[in-house]
Amino acid sequence: MKNVHVDLERRSYEIHIASGLISSVGRLLKSIFSGSITAVITNETIAPLYLPLLETSLRSAGFDISPIILHDGEQFKTLDSMRSIYEQLLECGLDRSALLIALGGGVVGDMAGFAAATYMRGIPFVQIPTTLLAQVDSSVGGKTGVNLPGGKNTVGAFYQPRAVFIDPLVLETLPERQLRAGLAEVIKYGIIRDPALFAFIEERLDSLLHRDADTTASVIKQCCMIKSDIVSRDETEQGVRAHLNFGHTLGHAVESLTGYSAYLHGEAVAIGMWAAARLSRTLGLCATADVQRIESLLASAGLPTVVPSFSVSAYMGAMLKDKKKTGSTVNFVLTHRIGEVALHPVGQERLRAFLARDLSMS
Ligand code: NAD
Ligand code: GLY
Repeated sequence: MKNVHVDLERRSYEIHIASGLISSVGRLLKSIFSGSITAVITNETIAPLYLPLLETSLRSAGFDISPIILHDGEQFKTLDSMRSIYEQLLECGLDRSALLIALGGGVVGDMAGFAAATYMRGIPFVQIPTTLLAQVDSSVGGKTGVNLPGGKNTVGAFYQPRAVFIDPLVLETLPERQLRAGLAEVIKYGIIRDPALFAFIEERLDSLLHRDADTTASVIKQCCMIKSDIVSRDETEQGVRAHLNFGHTLGHAVESLTGYSAYLHGEAVAIGMWAAARLSRTLGLCATADVQRIESLLASAGLPTVVPSFSVSAYMGAMLKDKKKTGSTVNFVLTHRIGEVALHPVGQERLRAFLARDLSMS
């Protein structure tokens, strides 16, 4: 078992990482939750795969379980789905003594976390992430919420889980495209913080794509350590946590312009990282050799690096709606070298020129 500690004083918790961990969740929960009532929030794809295993583990540890099965998809990460979750929690008779368990990818985790943050003014929850993206990113750090038609993750709360249980074996059933999308976030950690991790991914990409258990568990742990360190220093994104948004400013614009359906989140982030690396070079912040390594690793991981064709104005409009803008400048996380990023305000004219000249947009 590999453990990573998230240090947030009263809200500190452990990230447990081990193959086959789902079967031990019931026993491990006993040490952090004294009640016996739980609701497992999952979706229609994950439930047949992993809910029986989790239920067995929870029942044998004496827990009572109400499963709540959501539709599968980012398009269901909405306030309508939240209402349905609240109603089902009420119907199951859950009160403030209950525990919510999120079993799924980032969509389930973000919604279950938001339900936990808001139901009865807050009940405890734990995360059991089942996608690579959720295991290295979304299950850790307490960002929860849903999308509005006008913007992604626009309604939500910072609300930390009581624990995160990561079982890398569940990735065996993850569709290949989802695995690659998760790798985008893994590559992100290398770029923002850890040149050795970046080099390790370059070297062991095949093992990661073939889901080699040891390599995958090791990479997940390294990513969780980086995320834990960042979140412990800046829980609510007043500073260094913004570094985790590398690639997200243009990535979110890509997702929004393509109606959240053409690209997976990790794929949009890959496009955004590719563009952010180029912008870093254009602004004289980063050497061409580093930009080339980033481009080459993204391409080898089978991630998209072509910015979809929309007008400069469309991209500007989408980026200016981003939560990370201040006034008329967009705050971009840009790379200085592999392993180091910083926040740079980029003025609208500079950005327009970059999109038009460097990315050949009209
Ligand atoms: P997802 O939750 O939609 O899962 C991807 C697909 O894989 C779904 O169809 C899901 O049912 C399926 N799936 C999940 N686990 C599986 C498994 N083990 N085997 C087979 N199929 C499985 O997508 P995601 O990439 O995990 O998460 C994306 C979401 O996470 C976005 O909504 C994004 O905004 C959010 N996010 C949140 C944070 C955060 O800090 N809270 C960070 C990054 C992303
Ligand atoms: N995924 C970005 C964050 O957690 O801050």
